[in-house]
Amino acid sequence: MAKKISRNDETKLVSGGRNPKENHGIVNPPVYHASTVISSTLKSWRNRDPMNDIVYGRVGTPTQRALEEAVALVEEGDRAITTASGLGAITVALTSFTKSGDHILMTDSAYFPARNFCNNVLAKYGVETSFYDPQIGAGIADLIQDNTTIVYTETPGSLTFEMQDIPAIANAAHERGAVVLHDNTWGTPLFYKSFQMGIDVSIHAATKYIVGHSDAMLGVLVTKEKHFETLFKGFRYSGQHAAPDDCYLALRGLRTMSVRLNQHQENAIIVANWLESRPEVKQVLYPALESHPGHELWKRDFLGASGLFSIILDKHYDDIALGSMLDHMDLFAMGASWGGYESLILPGSPPRTATSWDPQGTLLRLHIGLENSDDLITDLDKSFTRLKTK
Ligand SMILES: Cc1ncc(COP(=O)(O)O)c(C=O)c1O
Repeated sequence: MAKKISRNDETKLVSGGRNPKENHGIVNPPVYHASTVISSTLKSWRNRDPMNDIVYGRVGTPTQRALEEAVALVEEGDRAITTASGLGAITVALTSFTKSGDHILMTDSAYFPARNFCNNVLAKYGVETSFYDPQIGAGIADLIQDNTTIVYTETPGSLTFEMQDIPAIANAAHERGAVVLHDNTWGTPLFYKSFQMGIDVSIHAATKYIVGHSDAMLGVLVTKEKHFETLFKGFRYSGQHAAPDDCYLALRGLRTMSVRLNQHQENAIIVANWLESRPEVKQVLYPALESHPGHELWKRDFLGASGLFSIILDKHYDDIALGSMLDHMDLFAMGASWGGYESLILPGSPPRTATSWDPQGTLLRLHIGLENSDDLITDLDKSFTRLKTK
């Protein structure tokens, strides 16, 4: 079972980014809608500092700043930047630390659109990406080239949930002067303290657990002072902008994130254990389970587990059988994204180039929501009956 998160973090989630005294005593930071921000003198116009002041709506209003301050506080970073989506945060981070002729090392288990961006966009501008075995650990040192500027990590990996030894990877990367980017969407600022692990830039699809209610798209980048300016320039040049209303929703979500995540975790462990006992399931890929090959790393590095995991069915099923299973579920719905209050289920096929992936069974990714776990199990139980009678 996961370690209990510290009271300090819970308090930070509730109080971060709030300043009622500056705001007529109103508890929540208000939504500022803005494009133009007026300078009162020519001198102040000339001296505008977009990194620290409010100068133009696209670069941030007090609403964005409140969210950035709160997320950075919880994750123990110095500064944060909000973007239009999680993928927007990934692309800003990747472009901020590369130029033509540079090389990126990306984990083979990265979120698919991150691979896509490297292969289809950065490649056009002369940035080469090679993919590495997520479980390589310190062995990454052998793959780092003189022109490697980024080592990109994600633990656990998208769909396949391999755990990465981030401190070992970060050590090797730093020895050769590369920055370590990390997609921390699964770990969240609460359950994975990126900067204690040696990460330089932590990337969040805030669309998931930070917003937490499946009703806004948002990304957040968290970093230390050392890399902030480079990242901020990349953000500013890209035209990325996080809508103030969505930042407000994310701030609202953040206040309850610890309560929600603990419940997601509790439900997920119950459902994952049940799934492990089922003959239709060959393997449950959830790092919080002792049976997971990366369980020891999860115990060492994480303060908890979120509600997303995959299962491998006992064999490959065709779409007729899978449709019969998935089309008629009461609670689990099919849809992209995760991290909201609701349970989701989707088939997935992880793309691989550096490693092979052949589990000899259909992969289903489940997000375990905040419904009652007995009801979720009943829904899954019925779905297995439909799968097997097709
Ligand atoms: C691990 C991970 N990172 C990033 C993203 C991208 O987030 P967004 O949908 O907000 O662009 C996702 C979305 O599913 C994700 O699963």
